[in-house]
Amino acid sequence: MAQHPPEPFRIKMVEPIRLIDSAARENALKKAGYNLFALKAEDIFIDLLTDSGTGAMSNRQWAAIMLGDESYAGARSYFRLDEAVNDIFGFEHWMPTHQGRAAEGILSAILVKEGNYIPSNMHFDTTDANIRSRGGRPTNLVIDEAYDPANMHPFKGNMDIAKLKAFIEEIGAENIPFGMMTVTNNAGGGQPVSMENMCAVADVYKSYNIPFFIDAARYAENAYFIKMREEGYAEKSPTEITQEMFALADGMTMSAKKDAIVNIGGLLCMRDNDLFVQAQNELIMREGFPTYGGLAGRDLDAMAVGLREGLEESYLAYRLNQTAYLNDLLIDVGVPVIQPAGGHAIYIDAGALLPHLSHAEFPDQALAVELYREGGIRGVELGSVMFSHEDPDTGEMVYPDLELVRLAIPRRTYTQSHLDYIAETMSKIVKRADQIGGYRFTYAPQFLKHFTAKFEPL
Ligand code: F0G
Repeated sequence: MAQHPPEPFRIKMVEPIRLIDSAARENALKKAGYNLFALKAEDIFIDLLTDSGTGAMSNRQWAAIMLGDESYAGARSYFRLDEAVNDIFGFEHWMPTHQGRAAEGILSAILVKEGNYIPSNMHFDTTDANIRSRGGRPTNLVIDEAYDPANMHPFKGNMDIAKLKAFIEEIGAENIPFGMMTVTNNAGGGQPVSMENMCAVADVYKSYNIPFFIDAARYAENAYFIKMREEGYAEKSPTEITQEMFALADGMTMSAKKDAIVNIGGLLCMRDNDLFVQAQNELIMREGFPTYGGLAGRDLDAMAVGLREGLEESYLAYRLNQTAYLNDLLIDVGVPVIQPAGGHAIYIDAGALLPHLSHAEFPDQALAVELYREGGIRGVELGSVMFSHEDPDTGEMVYPDLELVRLAIPRRTYTQSHLDYIAETMSKIVKRADQIGGYRFTYAPQFLKHFTAKFEPL
């Protein structure tokens, strides 16, 4: 039997969920044009669309909300968050934003010029889009192991240091206004970055005078992976590991909707004073006065508590074992998954499970639909629906290497029996995998197809 630490909390308030019957699920699918984004949330039994803003706040966070100070400027809530941000991340300057992409938008607005390049291990979609919208070119330089689903490298989110150096030499440091690292690497399967790699990246950026920003969305999960897997860190607390990591950087953007366990919020931090002054001006135009960003005072208080709770060892041990537990259950029932388990999500290799479907028949979409049809579970496809595009020169369709379905686990939200249910549902799908048919578009917009496309079964 798989070992799994019990939830380090008990449940004081519940939100009912219901599994509608299979005829109602079929009907809901038809009405949604087989696009899971178009389903009503109330028709979903277990929602694994994202781990962003979907976690459960604690009694301490809800209590903090009642202390929220809604003063326009200089609110007490701001100073309570100031203490937490300074203790944990230690940057000279910071500001709240309404979520992660707002911090990325401000940073891009003040630093990215037409033709600039921004290297990272891998940019998340919103970072990528914010850089591109300013004429910049986001560049992913993660280690090759990240692209091999079976490779058990303990830090598959690491930057390829040789590639980074060669890239800077080729592009010229003057064309790189800042460099980044995403922890954990969401676009690459929620895989962590080692402290050793972070130090090496910081050294390279420093040697070329390139400011170094961390995308810190899953800082706490990354710290716990380091504690478990990297030599010399077993005795250090996740907070100490986080402090050590962020001391290497010149700034960070953060979506607080992940490891800070709030439903909305973000941060932008930096050391440089001139940059801070420019960022503040952008913040005031787009988000709000610098002591509230785009948030209510109560949101700042919930974040101040959540930042610290996200670093508690008992919570992180439970959290990372939860994804590992589901990963192991899925392997037991014959589901091909990306190895090792990421911090926040499981990635099913739908292409390997449904080898009879070609990229053009959307095996990723077929599996995502089947999870809902069989068990009322919503995941998200990360394959040909999201990433295929027409080559502008040849007019031919270009498909991604992997056809994945991501099951993101919201924090403190679902119990172990929910995970057992997900594995049971998948085991039924595995047994009839060879009979699952593909899909085609009946409507698809030119960009960001996955959100609004409609499908029909082939
Ligand atoms: N950076 C990373 C690594 C992320 O995973 C996300 C969001 C963002 C930035 C943007 O933050 O949503 O607060 O504006 N990821 C979510 C997901 C949406 O489902 O993976 P945001």
